[in-house]
Amino acid sequence: MQIIILIYTILMGVSTIDIPVKKVEKSRINQLDPDNLHFGKLYSDHMLIAYYDDGAWQRAEIVPFHDLTFSPATAFFHYGQAIFEGIKAFKDSKGNPVIFRPKDNLERMNRSAIRMAMPEITEEIFIGGMAKLIDVDRAWIPTKENTSLYIRPFMLAVDEFIGVRPAEKFLFIIITSPAGPYYDKPLSIYVEDKYVRAFPGGIGFTKAAGNYGMSMFPTQEIKKKGYDQVLWTDGFTHKYVQEIGTMNVFFVIGDKAITPDVAQDTILEGVTRDTVITLLREKGMTVEVRHLSVDEIEEAYKKRATQRGIWYRYCSIYCTYL
Ligand SMILES: Cc1ncc(COP(=O)(O)O)c(C=O)c1O
Repeated sequence: MQIIILIYTILMGVSTIDIPVKKVEKSRINQLDPDNLHFGKLYSDHMLIAYYDDGAWQRAEIVPFHDLTFSPATAFFHYGQAIFEGIKAFKDSKGNPVIFRPKDNLERMNRSAIRMAMPEITEEIFIGGMAKLIDVDRAWIPTKENTSLYIRPFMLAVDEFIGVRPAEKFLFIIITSPAGPYYDKPLSIYVEDKYVRAFPGGIGFTKAAGNYGMSMFPTQEIKKKGYDQVLWTDGFTHKYVQEIGTMNVFFVIGDKAITPDVAQDTILEGVTRDTVITLLREKGMTVEVRHLSVDEIEEAYKKRATQRGIWYRYCSIYCTYL
């Protein structure tokens, strides 16, 4: 567990920029039922908003969680310049808030931003602002096993302009949500052989809203067949596995764990994936990061009588042991 401890950011040690805080008049904390937490349904008292205009991030503030109003002509409604991230905060054994590897999410958000012609967010706002927000809402961090405070940073193009061109005004927002596990049961996975999530040169490596929008229909289709999630395959041959709609994958074949490589920009480079690779290697397991074909998985499956799917409790990784 050493590595996990090292890669948490302990909030006490994070430099936070001077972000003004406007606190709620009346907290909604009484809505938090730690025994009955679902994913993505309840939001904590405050949110962070930063404004980009004239080529720079102008200001950031922490304010009560509230609805936003946009002109119907706002760019992100029409052209999809919208990206996001997903991170978790916990409390350590002393009750201090800790965030799991936020720097990795900052770097990934900025890779998404560059590809989507959006401005990179600064470390001061992303990590410093997040740390301050989590500190303000520390009472919302649940402590029961399998629970966390889910952190959702996102960025939107907010020019009021109808016409296809990169926007010039953006909002960066962080909201947080006390949450239980994303999935509460092992999943049935459908190996996709018709629809495609990502091609080389596309936006598969980004956390762009469009990657999720386009996945709704294929997921709806396989749900009708009794499956929970799509395992995406390459768009040219449907022979090589990429990732599941909401998580990276590992297959354990014999004494090796194998996970698809992210080199072709078609797979979201999961922070959990990197953590699992590191932990497995630390434990002496061979981890191969390479192309993995459906045929190879099928063959390995036939050689073994048993198969069991393991869903990691703190992460979004699907592992199948063959
Ligand atoms: C498509 C996709 N792949 C992988 C992941 C896992 O990423 P991470 O481990 O950074 O949460 C996610 C997480 O939301 C995802 O949506």
